[in-house]
Amino acid sequence: MKILGIESSCDETAAAVVEDGRRLLSNVVSSSVDLHAAYGGVVPEIAARSHIEVIIPVIKQALTEAGCTWQDIDAIAVTQGPGLMGSLLIGVLTARTLAIVKKKPLLPINHVLAHTSANFITETALEEYELAERPPEFPFISLTVSGGHSQISLYKSHNDYNILGQTRDDAVGEAYDKVAKILGLPYPGGPSVERAAKDGNPNAIKLPIAKLDNSYDFSFSGLKTATLRAAQELSGHDFTFPSHELPKVLTDGQKADLAASFQKTAVQTLVQAVQKAETEYKPKNIVLAGGVAASQALRLALKVGLKTPLLCPDIKLCTDNAAMIAAAAFYQPDAVTNPYKLAVIPSF
Ligand code: KG4
Ligand code: ZN
Repeated sequence: MKILGIESSCDETAAAVVEDGRRLLSNVVSSSVDLHAAYGGVVPEIAARSHIEVIIPVIKQALTEAGCTWQDIDAIAVTQGPGLMGSLLIGVLTARTLAIVKKKPLLPINHVLAHTSANFITETALEEYELAERPPEFPFISLTVSGGHSQISLYKSHNDYNILGQTRDDAVGEAYDKVAKILGLPYPGGPSVERAAKDGNPNAIKLPIAKLDNSYDFSFSGLKTATLRAAQELSGHDFTFPSHELPKVLTDGQKADLAASFQKTAVQTLVQAVQKAETEYKPKNIVLAGGVAASQALRLALKVGLKTPLLCPDIKLCTDNAAMIAAAAFYQPDAVTNPYKLAVIPSF
């Protein structure tokens, strides 16, 4: 069964074809990230306009690269939410129209859950993908960490899962992006902070790990503020010093130390939660998902800190993509919906 996935929840316009929930036939991602870089974050109106411009060419390219015509496609899956309203609308309206015109079943997919499904893609003839040799075994713990979400969940089967904890404020990727802005590093913040951290001392600055009553919940807003305060102090100013002036007064060494200390604390927070879930639920696997799963520092800390085998998707399947949407749809065939009625859900 070949499913065409369509994703447009944020600043990536993506389409992919996945066979039987595991074989990657194509994976096309067009990002408007360069257009947002000047603003230090995604501008919703710019993202929506860019989706309109590229969504049809992206879908055509995904079909061509998969060697498929419309006749070969068995169903269309699309991100219903969560995400930016204007961005989601472009993907959903395109998918609805195609489902009607091409007479294909239409499946709405939850973007956050789909990140985990990327771990089930284990085969491809495409070059430059490092896929796991086997799919995860149930029950498994999934750590889903992205720019919009930080969640730890227990999966007993594809459609039977409990969210054990989630962020109470900022998502971890959001904290990376904000710290990058404080340090004057380019957007998106995750990769820039990781690069800067390589030259820094992770023990230079002591930053707090938030302790919450439900210890599977996360809070990253305090860590971001503590990093800002440390940056102000290191630069010889007090807490009234404007954050946008900091990149000019911090030395490269101070920036590297701040990046390394922030990254170490963010990673430690996530690792501690996963270790607790490992002890309590004794899963067969731990899986990583979401854009922050691209972090080498996080992957390494989890590999070292866990007894349970860890599975990570290829980096191109960690950040937003449509292959995860197509894979998720294969495992929830009952989700088929009326293409005349499907609405977006910006916050699930
Ligand atoms: O999953 P994703 O592409 O989009 C959302 O659904 O949010 O995740 C994007 C997030 C951004 O916040 C970005 O800074 C972060 O993933 N990210 C990283 C790394 N690469 C991307 N965070 C830490 N380390 C990285 N190497
Ligand atoms: Zn995402």
